[in-house]
Amino acid sequence: MNILILRNEAEIGQVLGDLFCALAREKKNAVLGLATGSTPLPSYRRMISRYKAGDVSFKDVITFNLDEYCGLPADHKNSYRTFMRQELFEQIDILHKNTHFLDGNTNDERAESERFRRLIENAGGIDLQLLGIGRNGHIGFNEPSDAFTQEAYRTALTESTIAANSVYFDDCPMPRYAMTMGVGSILRAKRIVLVATGEAKAEAVKAMLEGEVTPGCPASALQNHPNTTVYLDPAAAALLSV
Ligand code: GLP
Repeated sequence: MNILILRNEAEIGQVLGDLFCALAREKKNAVLGLATGSTPLPSYRRMISRYKAGDVSFKDVITFNLDEYCGLPADHKNSYRTFMRQELFEQIDILHKNTHFLDGNTNDERAESERFRRLIENAGGIDLQLLGIGRNGHIGFNEPSDAFTQEAYRTALTESTIAANSVYFDDCPMPRYAMTMGVGSILRAKRIVLVATGEAKAEAVKAMLEGEVTPGCPASALQNHPNTTVYLDPAAAALLSV
């Protein structure tokens, strides 16, 4: 894994936003794997400003999001579909039909998982996957567990994740379950960029980069990916030994 420590989250957002724009310009039907949470926002803002400046078009781009809560209507203000619409899709020229999400309300988890796997495969695989990291080392919503997960599945969220994300749920309880791409499906991306900023992520970053590869820290699986770069600010990198 490559590790880059940049000055702050704004600088990381600029570099990564430009990376996604470069791919959209270079490759017709580029396939982007996208993430939610607060960490990707500076990257999305950079993509929006490059689009508004006329530098890039996302009309031919295809996206897949990592995860979605179970039990929320798709248009709920806290759904990840709504998040992506508000924070990125409505502000660029991406076509709605090219944006893909797992259905958190499916009655058939296996069929939904298979549908998503095939869609990604038929698109040619994910060219560039953006990841954040949870305080407990989760990626997507793959929580620490006994075995690495493979394809998309329905997962129970841990107390740590519920505590971290509850702040976004001001008028309804936070869902306890989510559909998420599995670690195996995330690792099939051709190239991965993971971003971690702030001291709350420092322990997870250390475990991911310097700990053993273990499903107890799902992000540690990235140590086995051939093309992953981790972007950190100084606070998130503070506990690293090198
Ligand atoms: C959420 C998302 C993850 C995200 C993580 C960190 O639960 N499912 O994809 O990386 O938590 O979120 P944040 O960037 O807000 O710290």
